[in-house]
Amino acid sequence: LEGEHVFRGVLHHSVMLTEGTEEQKKFDSLQMSANDCIVATYPKSGTTWMQEIVWLIYNGVDIEKAKQSPLDERCPFMEIAPKIDFITDMQSPKLLKTHLLHLGLPTSFLNKSNDSRPRIVYVARNPKDVAVSFYHFYRSNKSLGNFNRGWNEFFEMFISGYVVFGDWFSHVITWYETAKKDSTILFIKYEDMKRNSLEEISKIAKFLGKDISTEMLETLYDHTKFESMKKNPMVTFAKNPSIDSSISPFLRKGEIGDWKNYFTVAQNERFMDIYNEKMKDTDLSFQFE
Ligand code: PPS
Repeated sequence: LEGEHVFRGVLHHSVMLTEGTEEQKKFDSLQMSANDCIVATYPKSGTTWMQEIVWLIYNGVDIEKAKQSPLDERCPFMEIAPKIDFITDMQSPKLLKTHLLHLGLPTSFLNKSNDSRPRIVYVARNPKDVAVSFYHFYRSNKSLGNFNRGWNEFFEMFISGYVVFGDWFSHVITWYETAKKDSTILFIKYEDMKRNSLEEISKIAKFLGKDISTEMLETLYDHTKFESMKKNPMVTFAKNPSIDSSISPFLRKGEIGDWKNYFTVAQNERFMDIYNEKMKDTDLSFQFE
């Protein structure tokens, strides 16, 4: 990867924050309040979907306003070094996205006695579908080392944790265990969002302390379902020059269980051995279909 480096325990590439730079100092002095929100995920777990939902919850489900600017301006990625001034200058309520580990956030957000910490919604998705989605993202995103190898190679990279933002297991498990002990973090699963969208959206609104009527809930659901988002250029990264949608679109399939079209029987066995071993000390579990 170009500019490959580790930042707070996770693999990064050139545009991401580097320790010891001006941008990192600005990042660590970011001011946020309890009325602000960060959408945190391991990549390819439903980040974009949750960003649009959270933005709408904060903005009275104003669909017309949502269509006026790209999602990555309304809810930017907080660890991209060249964006740090934009993020610092954002008005409250500040909505941000991150793929960092919890311990990678600005230190003031980690201190439990700080009453003005932002709310965090963490979304996790079953790792087999994450791996497949990530594979297609690597193929289509030029900033990820012009990856042009096949699924088998990517599978090995994924299980060894040699991908941007590192090992899936340590990311998801540490966030899950942190969320259990911290009421400012809500842990949500992609599979629950797919199966019980309305209940999950209500849960998120309640967590964020925002009232949402049944009518607003229906509107929000309708605007954020896969088929709608796929047609919405404000959320598809259609204009992002590093993504070649003709290789694989950013909103690709949006399903549970696509891993079955990629994992061989042997890969699945190997994966489940690793999964069972790594997950043995947590009560976290996932639905794979
Ligand atoms: S990123 O790059 O980490 O921010 O990507 P992220 O948004 O986390 O993940 C992209 C995958 O999420 C799917 N997606 C959705 N699924 C269901 N419903 C909605 N509305 C939705 N929006 C995005 C997207 O299609 C990617 O998954 P795959 O399996 O590749 O289709």
